[in-house]
Amino acid sequence: MGNANSLRKQLIVRMLLVMLPLFILLWVMAHLSSQYLIDAAFDRSLARRTYALADRVEVVHGRAHVDISVAAREILAFDQEDLLFHRVMDPQSRVIEGDPSMPPLPGRRGLKPGKLIVYDGMKDGEKVRVAAYALSLKGIRTKGAVLIQVGETLSRRSAMADRATLAIVIPMLLMMLTAAAAIAYGVGQGLLPLSRLRDRLSAREALDPSPVPLDGTPTELRPFLDEINSLLLRLSEAVDAQSRFVSDAAHQLRTPLAGIRAQAEAALVNAQPDDAQHALARIAQSTRTMGELLQKLLILARVDAAENTLRLVSLDGMALVKAVAREWVPQALSKGVEIDFEATDSGAPLAGDAQLLREMLANLIDNALRYGGTRISLTVQRTEQGVTWCVADNGPGIPASQRTAVFLPFFRLSGGVDGAGLGLTIVQRIANLHGARVRLDAESGNTGLRVCVDFPVMAT
Ligand SMILES: Nc1ncnc2c1ncn2[C@@H]1O[C@H](COP(=O)(O)OP(=O)(O)OP(=O)(O)O)[C@@H](O)[C@H]1O
Ligand SMILES: [Mg+2]
Repeated sequence: MGNANSLRKQLIVRMLLVMLPLFILLWVMAHLSSQYLIDAAFDRSLARRTYALADRVEVVHGRAHVDISVAAREILAFDQEDLLFHRVMDPQSRVIEGDPSMPPLPGRRGLKPGKLIVYDGMKDGEKVRVAAYALSLKGIRTKGAVLIQVGETLSRRSAMADRATLAIVIPMLLMMLTAAAAIAYGVGQGLLPLSRLRDRLSAREALDPSPVPLDGTPTELRPFLDEINSLLLRLSEAVDAQSRFVSDAAHQLRTPLAGIRAQAEAALVNAQPDDAQHALARIAQSTRTMGELLQKLLILARVDAAENTLRLVSLDGMALVKAVAREWVPQALSKGVEIDFEATDSGAPLAGDAQLLREMLANLIDNALRYGGTRISLTVQRTEQGVTWCVADNGPGIPASQRTAVFLPFFRLSGGVDGAGLGLTIVQRIANLHGARVRLDAESGNTGLRVCVDFPVMAT
């Protein structure tokens, strides 16, 4: 779990990234709301004290007078944490009781009689909260109200607000941490099937084609496992094809080899020079066949190996086809076959490997010469999808039912000249390397064969 790609780590980091701002928001909200509630409660008690003080104000000889006992004054002034202070002013704004310095009322206009407000202020450099009450008295000489103010510092309020905030935030924090731990644990548990899977995979035989069992694996992994299973299937098909190919090749090589041995043994026991000569000729023929077969096998191996090292370059298809056609003219003439070349456009650029493309073309012309009639025509044509090369002949053609099978290695139509049955396999593999498709069609008039290779548009 140590590396940066660990699912568990990523999840936790992401979760923290989301939770941290949330947590800060929660903290702020908890603080604001507890502050609000506590202020409301404390303001109420401040108001109560103000009313209590107002009860002590009476009119003596037409003047306002505060009858406050020492004990009451102490209660008014004492609190364990906060400083309490009060002031009573008569309608002429003379202080008749309490602390002369008091934060001024908010607003310019004074308080209406009978009204109580609570407001914020500063006293001796400290924030305070003050309740003010305007009391109108009967029988007083001067018109107006007596102003009663009671204030307190804020230590107890803020201490309580802090405690209330913590009481909300700490359980929340614990909950979040527990959730994070539970998720981290859950992810670990959820990933267990993966390590079981790894054990199963590492215990497998190299060529075991059986699919990985899906039971007990989480649904999220299913598509991934399906992919692995289909890869395994393709792999095992490829391995099967490969081993079939090897045994076919061995079989193909055994036949001429057995012939060579039989002829050699016959020559050894045969005293007649003519017979020996005959046997030697047969041996030479079989050796040639074997040589050709080996040659084709080597080409096929080279084509397969090219897959990993292939570098397609832009080349002029027209010139390439023309050049290969020219090389084959003498051989064709000696067989009385005519080769013609036809191009519908001035240029037909494609991305390819010149050597492999020559090999492909050579196989097609070779087939046309061997199995075709008297005429071979090569065409290069530009199409909307790319470039198409065709090699057509006027021979017997290939029946539609066999047009897929002829691409299989060692597949040959019955009878006819010698051949390994690898030519069209090579053609198809080279086409595949170029992203091209090979089509077999009957030539016009239903005789002859037309083999076309469709190359895709060159990616520039
Ligand atoms: N132009 C053609 N006309 C008629 N039949 C053809 C033509 N080209 C190929 N075939 C048939 O398809 C078979 C497979 O061709 P392919 O080129 O793969 O093998 P091959 O020619 O027999 O052997 P190789 O090319 O390996 O020497 C041939 O045996 C032949 O019967
Ligand atoms: Mg061939």
